Amino acid sequence: MRAWTIPDQRGLGGLSLQTLPDPSPGPGEVVLRIHRAALNPADRYLAEGLYPARPSFPHVLGRDGAGVIAAVGPGVEGWRVGEPALVLRGAAGVDRPGTLAEALALPAAALAKVPSGWSGAEAAGAALVLLTAHQALLQWGRLPPSTVLVSGAGGGVGAATVQLAAALGHRVIGLSRSAAKRERLVTLGAAATFDPGGGSWRRDVKALLAPLRVDLVVDTIGGALFGELVDTLGFGGRVSVVGMLAGPVPAFNTASLFFRRIRLGGVAVGSDSAEEQRRAWEESVALLEAAGQRPEVDSEFPFEEVPAAFTRLAEGPMGKVIVRLPAAG
Ligand SMILES: NC(=O)c1ccc[n+]([C@@H]2O[C@H](COP(=O)([O-])OP(=O)(O)OC[C@H]3O[C@@H](n4cnc5c(N)ncnc54)[C@H](OP(=O)(O)O)[C@@H]3O)[C@@H](O)[C@H]2O)c1
Repeated sequence: MRAWTIPDQRGLGGLSLQTLPDPSPGPGEVVLRIHRAALNPADRYLAEGLYPARPSFPHVLGRDGAGVIAAVGPGVEGWRVGEPALVLRGAAGVDRPGTLAEALALPAAALAKVPSGWSGAEAAGAALVLLTAHQALLQWGRLPPSTVLVSGAGGGVGAATVQLAAALGHRVIGLSRSAAKRERLVTLGAAATFDPGGGSWRRDVKALLAPLRVDLVVDTIGGALFGELVDTLGFGGRVSVVGMLAGPVPAFNTASLFFRRIRLGGVAVGSDSAEEQRRAWEESVALLEAAGQRPEVDSEFPFEEVPAAFTRLAEGPMGKVIVRLPAAG
């Protein structure tokens, strides 16, 4: 089978399409024939040695994907050959071969059924970002209807967070540097959107909410924006720290946390137990369905064009960047 591999952790420049032995399922495992895979910034971080993973090389990247079951190993119940499935969780693309391949073997417990009515691309890209959004929104418990501010709102995690937060009954404010994405975010459930590059966005958010403030920030950007996000919070406000696409926070005055008793909470999607992740997934799928929403797909690239797909991811997509394999037809 063919797979995109990296020979080491010196970056995505090392990506090459290789022929590897076909996988076979061990006990408790299945082989998934991949129809579509999805990219995540974590793939790049892993390729650059910036992610806590210990893969063997050559390593096949790719956390997310969907396809059909091609083989079932001993002891597997509940899955049969030919059935559609998606990768929900686990070490695929981290400590073991990932989804940027024509097939992969993985524990059956790592799979989920494809939600009814979802397209192949929607199924391939939803798992990691929806689980992340779920943890970011619910790690503080079940908040009453609140105002949730989402940075990087057009990205994979951001779009999923906007959809889920709105479906949970929150008032959602999305930040994106792109006017087209800000327009799209409204259809995903954002009540208002702002350009974080515009000098007045904090003033505009405060004017919109006065006399209230933001209750929860879900931040995927970090960098210089972080302090500005904290500034929008009210008393007891919280920040779910998801990512740092703009790099480390250059200067941050911890005094900004004192007087409003602001709380910061890191998000680590892989830290939930299998059971917690399955419950989070089922709830997320049900919430999207009740809200009439489906996972947001930015673009689809042929399998042979994975480097171009990573370029699109680096540009800042609207939703997920998908890779389509020949088996998808
Ligand atoms: N903690 C966890 O468990 C976890 C799980 C999943 C992802 N993450 C992290 O969360 C972050 C977001 O992931 P993602 O999948 O949503 O990424 P993504 O799909 O690439 O989208 C990120 C969005 O952020 C904006 N953006 C990108 N670079 C920026 C910059 N330098 N300054 C300001 N805005 C920028 C872009 O939106 P606009 O151009 O519209 O502004 C882009 O659409 C990544 O760092 C990822 O590693 C963490």
